[in-house]
Amino acid sequence: MRPQNWKQRIAVGLKAAFPERRMRRLVGTAVDVATQTTLQERICLYEEACWNIRLGRFLEVGSYLGASSVVLAEALRRWGNPDQQQHVYCVDTWENDTMTEGQRSTRDEFMKNTRRWSDIIVPVVGNSRDVSLPFEGECDVVFIDGDHSYAGCQRDVERFAPLVRDGGRLILHDHAYYHGVTTVLGELLAAGQWHVSISVENLISLRKDPHWSHRVPGRMDNYREAAGLPPDSSCWIDRFHAPSVSTLPS
Ligand SMILES: C[S@@+](CC[C@H](N)C(=O)[O-])C[C@H]1O[C@@H](n2cnc3c(N)ncnc32)[C@H](O)[C@@H]1O
Repeated sequence: MRPQNWKQRIAVGLKAAFPERRMRRLVGTAVDVATQTTLQERICLYEEACWNIRLGRFLEVGSYLGASSVVLAEALRRWGNPDQQQHVYCVDTWENDTMTEGQRSTRDEFMKNTRRWSDIIVPVVGNSRDVSLPFEGECDVVFIDGDHSYAGCQRDVERFAPLVRDGGRLILHDHAYYHGVTTVLGELLAAGQWHVSISVENLISLRKDPHWSHRVPGRMDNYREAAGLPPDSSCWIDRFHAPSVSTLPS
């Protein structure tokens, strides 16, 4: 929704200008939890989550110390249906796998940082490759931020993207820094069904629309063409980088 009047425009401008203040109002001291997910990215994650609650179920692959998990949980708490069960399922080994800082146990820190949301957050300990999920059915949002290698990201997308309900969101982190994630993203877009909802910095949110490939036939080349970029362009996705704008009250 676009801001309708000057009051809404000022509110939107203030939110964009003071992301830390806004995040702190939402999650309190959890805003300071160490993470590579920037404030603008976390705000985008929050907004995409808020706008897409229907089943009240989110899945996160790669939770680390909980900075992004609490954002998803807060979206459910504020905007979910209180009469419905609402959960963020967080999949991680909590052994710091694939992290540049090296292996260590992060489980206790995660539990401490997410305590305020323990009624919503369900830790699912294990490797995303074969961990069994404690729920059946679809999710409103699947956020993938685990193994960023091509093989790892592709495996996660192959396993978890089909869980997104029609109209829901598949959100990837680090698509601009990690070649493996970029490649998987390109393959997803080329295959149809997914199109870009929003991208902020290094986070991209895709909307699931099974009919999308019918509207943009010819896949990737047409996609580039639609974005006004040369056919050999490899940085076509930059076109979609945009500041996060929302008129959600808080
Ligand atoms: C980049 S961090 C996640 C950051 C978090 N989303 C945030 O915003 O703060 C990646 C996490 O994925 C986990 N991870 C990596 N490979 C994994 C795998 N195959 N299965 C489960 N967890 C994995 C790591 O243990 C690490 O905690």
